[in-house]
Amino acid sequence: MTFFGQLGGRVIGAPSILSADFSELAEEVRRAERGGAELVHFDVMDNHFVPNLTVGPAVAASLAAAVDLPIDAHLQVTNPDNLIPSFIEAGVVSISVQPEVVTHLHRTLGLIRAGGCEAGVALNPTTPPELIAWALPYVDYINVMSVNPGFGGQDFIPEMVEKVRRLKELTDVPVEVDGGITVQTAPLMVEAGAQILVAGSAVFKGDPATEMQRIIEAGQSAR
Ligand code: DX5
Ligand code: ZN
Repeated sequence: MTFFGQLGGRVIGAPSILSADFSELAEEVRRAERGGAELVHFDVMDNHFVPNLTVGPAVAASLAAAVDLPIDAHLQVTNPDNLIPSFIEAGVVSISVQPEVVTHLHRTLGLIRAGGCEAGVALNPTTPPELIAWALPYVDYINVMSVNPGFGGQDFIPEMVEKVRRLKELTDVPVEVDGGITVQTAPLMVEAGAQILVAGSAVFKGDPATEMQRIIEAGQSAR
């Protein structure tokens, strides 16, 4: 079963655990699931590619065993190849890497797919869509970062709407958007072609079920 491969034209919500209460991570995910979330966005940071540090494969494995939703790992790390086997083992369904720091992207994407996961690329705000043009046959989803990776709660970068539109002219690969996604910005991104709405602070700032539902509905209404 492939998550992104079976998405069709649907617009879905994915809570980013970065803004959740880590002391009750599984329950936080279940709260967002009650609001209609279909995927967990699991942010991995290494204090090298980004200045922040989060969690790794051990936490992903515990979470995968505790919740029903599939887990998408976003590796904001300098050396993803070192971690990919452990995340596959942990039971995540998909893994995205940052092509800005991957030397042999074709090989890295192949490593993810060979482990039975779907392979994604996450683009920094100033990374052009053309960077991944020759990787597209090996990509199952594209994450358009609409903030600089590293922290939750940053301001949405408005030029990223046009970037989503541009990517959708290049490819049918599903586009995920990540950073500053709210009830206000989700419709702009969906109208441009985004289908997976990642939201951290906007979901966990209040009741996660209510906030997740509002974002999904706002996004779906723009279709
Ligand atoms: C940022 C992460 C995001 C982050 C988004 O580096 O990739 O997933 O959690 O947070 P919000 O939704 O608060 O912008
Ligand atoms: Zn992310």
